[in-house]
Amino acid sequence: MSQGKLDGKVAVVTGAGAGLGAECARVLAEHGARVAVVDINGDSAKAVAAQIEAAGGLALALQTDVLSEEAIRAMAAAVVDRFGRIDILHNNAAALDLAQRHADRDVCNVDIAAWDRALDVNARGAMLCCKHTIPHMLATGGGSIVFATSGFGQLGDITLTSYAASKAALMSLARSVAAQYGKQGIRSNAIMIGFVLNEHAQKAVPEEIKQILLAQHLTPKLGSPRQIADVVAFLASDESSFITGATLPVDGGFTSHSPSMVPMREFFAKMGSNKL
Ligand SMILES: NC(=O)c1ccc[n+]([C@@H]2O[C@H](COP(=O)([O-])OP(=O)(O)OC[C@H]3O[C@@H](n4cnc5c(N)ncnc54)[C@H](O)[C@@H]3O)[C@@H](O)[C@H]2O)c1
Repeated sequence: MSQGKLDGKVAVVTGAGAGLGAECARVLAEHGARVAVVDINGDSAKAVAAQIEAAGGLALALQTDVLSEEAIRAMAAAVVDRFGRIDILHNNAAALDLAQRHADRDVCNVDIAAWDRALDVNARGAMLCCKHTIPHMLATGGGSIVFATSGFGQLGDITLTSYAASKAALMSLARSVAAQYGKQGIRSNAIMIGFVLNEHAQKAVPEEIKQILLAQHLTPKLGSPRQIADVVAFLASDESSFITGATLPVDGGFTSHSPSMVPMREFFAKMGSNKL
């Protein structure tokens, strides 16, 4: 991808203090955007903003809890105050800490506080970020919004009931925003992310789980944060100017194949042939 395709643009990335959001913030800045690094963890937001500035970019660290509408309104105002406009919103923040994931189980065993938190941070938070950045985008002729969603939002699974519902909501929200503000120059898309090894997952996810998931991806390796950030930069830029209302799988083919493919592949390997 060429450098400078986001020159002159201002981006807001939520949950940008760590993981995929941090990489998205760095890559958007690499392409020329001035970036608001928004996270509930102010220190990690500052650290990512400092990395961007050390690399020659412009960044603003903002400690913001996306649970709070007032904090989101203030965040958007602070970005416009500092950079004059908002062109890009990447709704990436999600409640994914260990306590949340352990409490978010199958329907009969889901902790109701975990359900509320997933819906409130992941879905309501993204909606509120749209609500308070879209008026600024409209004031300067439009923008691009990206929602970080997951295969869990599309396919049934054994656990993470609340997370899955929140991610399905984002696919719908992406289409609502596209339909409501498209004629005024706003594009809105979701990316359905496969399994990506951020720094935390590299260390914390057991090897057995990595191998189970890798078998279901069609690529030789699981995803990297950079592979996600490159797609976010594309959707943020005018290179994708005819894409809106879409949910784009960025998942190494995880959601593209038949559920029986992996056991069939093993069966064929055992039989020495794929003749059916
Ligand atoms: N990593 C993967 O394999 C994967 C797969 C599918 C989808 N995703 C999605 O990508 C996004 C990023 O995932 P990640 O793996 O980098 O997660 P992560 O847990 O590493 O990062 C999430 C960030 O969001 C911040 N955050 C949490 N609650 C917040 C709040 N209330 N207000 C503001 N910020 C808050 C955290 O502080 C953290 O910096 C998430 O939306 C996730 O659902 C990730």
